Amino acid sequence: MDSPYPHTSRTIGVFDSGVGGLSVLQHIRAALPDAHLVYIADSGHVPYGDKSPAYIEARSLALTRFLVGLGAEAVVIACNTATAAAAHSLRVRFNRLPIVAMEPAVKPAVAATKTGVVGVLATVGTLESARFAALLEKYAGNAKIVTQGCPGLVEAVERGDLHSIETRRLVERYTAPLLKAGADTLILGCTHYPFLAPLIREVVDDGITLIDTGAAVARELKRRVEGELPPRVTQGGIGGETFFTSGDEAHATRIMSALWGGAVVVESLPDEFL
Ligand code: DGL
Repeated sequence: MDSPYPHTSRTIGVFDSGVGGLSVLQHIRAALPDAHLVYIADSGHVPYGDKSPAYIEARSLALTRFLVGLGAEAVVIACNTATAAAAHSLRVRFNRLPIVAMEPAVKPAVAATKTGVVGVLATVGTLESARFAALLEKYAGNAKIVTQGCPGLVEAVERGDLHSIETRRLVERYTAPLLKAGADTLILGCTHYPFLAPLIREVVDDGITLIDTGAAVARELKRRVEGELPPRVTQGGIGGETFFTSGDEAHATRIMSALWGGAVVVESLPDEFL
């Protein structure tokens, strides 16, 4: 379908269970300055981390259908949990659409660790998935991988609560067992967590490396857009962003403006996609 956005720009769709994927969108904005970015925060259904794979798959299919309906030429699943539950079926269903997915960055973390112990902070859904087991099988090598599900952290970011004492206690509780096991490298295996990186930094020692996948995902998207999509006749479009939520519009506008770092207008998804 034709995109309603400027014809000089490519339209790229990006979705997450909520506002966390904005941490990825920031990298995409820098990598593709000309593209029009359409972002959906599925905050009416957050968190995905405690939902069934079938539920997340159904949401992911609906959101991708909506993005394609707006003319998205490529889609980024800016969510580790939705990747684990739905990347495969999205790629089967939308087999001509470049779909960039994301997983906890085990490979770079294993390359970075000096103690040989890597900690993974992620949602329970990601950690229990077959995809995560396959990722460890492929990349863990001789490293010891210790994992920690983090209920409550996604909800804190959704509330815009990045610095409270409650959020700090959760961060302390979830990082302590990983540090105790000897981890010197922590994977932020959920796109909400980079927004908590300043707090995590306050809690863990300076020597601990934090690893996030946002920049790698943006690079992969750029590579695929340039390699797989037909060249555009007109060049030089000015990149813009359009934001949607399945949650409360006023709340989303406030929180997403704060996380994006500038005032944004957030529209409600049409009823059939809520
Ligand atoms: N941002 C999602 C991820 O990367 C969060 C999942 C959730 O909603 O629990 O896993």
